[in-house]
Amino acid sequence: MAVRLGDDAPNFTAETTEGTLDFYDWKGDSWAVLFSHPKDFTPVCTTELGRVAGLKPEFDKRDVKVIGLSVDELGNHGDWGQDIKDVTGNELNFPLIADTDRTVSDLYDMIHPNANDTLTVRSVFVIGPDNKVKLTLTYPASTGRNFDEILRVIDSLQLTAKHKVATPSDWKDGEDVIITGAVSDEEAAEQFPGYQTVKPYLRTTKQPG
Ligand code: BEZ
Repeated sequence: MAVRLGDDAPNFTAETTEGTLDFYDWKGDSWAVLFSHPKDFTPVCTTELGRVAGLKPEFDKRDVKVIGLSVDELGNHGDWGQDIKDVTGNELNFPLIADTDRTVSDLYDMIHPNANDTLTVRSVFVIGPDNKVKLTLTYPASTGRNFDEILRVIDSLQLTAKHKVATPSDWKDGEDVIITGAVSDEEAAEQFPGYQTVKPYLRTTKQPG
């Protein structure tokens, strides 16, 4: 069964490179990114994991914990860490789940049999402090993900969780935002002084907060 936006993220216990963990206990009240990759010792995955390790300070700044997953064994994950460091200069600094029995992959529907019946696809789940799923993404094995985009979405999710705004196409942190339809013009004048009406349904303002 697919995991959809707004669903409770399924909890699980798993073996990882940082020991056995209960997902909810490990995550606590933070945000989390759970992402799967097809296979250890493969080129695209090597670049992805190194990139995520390099972005750890950016995830930390946003109170986001990151956890990776594949169906490979723990031993493979460990040995592969040295290759990731050799190639990208970055040490693995987040847990990798060894989902050999596919418990987590099945819970999160990370194996798409018509793409590959044994390996996980490149799934991404962003999970909020309330343990609800806020974002899902699925990429094919042949395309490495853009983790700057994942940080960008997290910025939008965290902003829109606090303020009655939405973010336009290609928005980046610090740029103007859209006032949601839930805010009347009177409230908008109070909450977002100087806001602009582009169309009656499209009102923009400086990024709050
Ligand atoms: C890769 O990471 O390069 C990869 C993994 C599985 C299938 C194809 C590519």
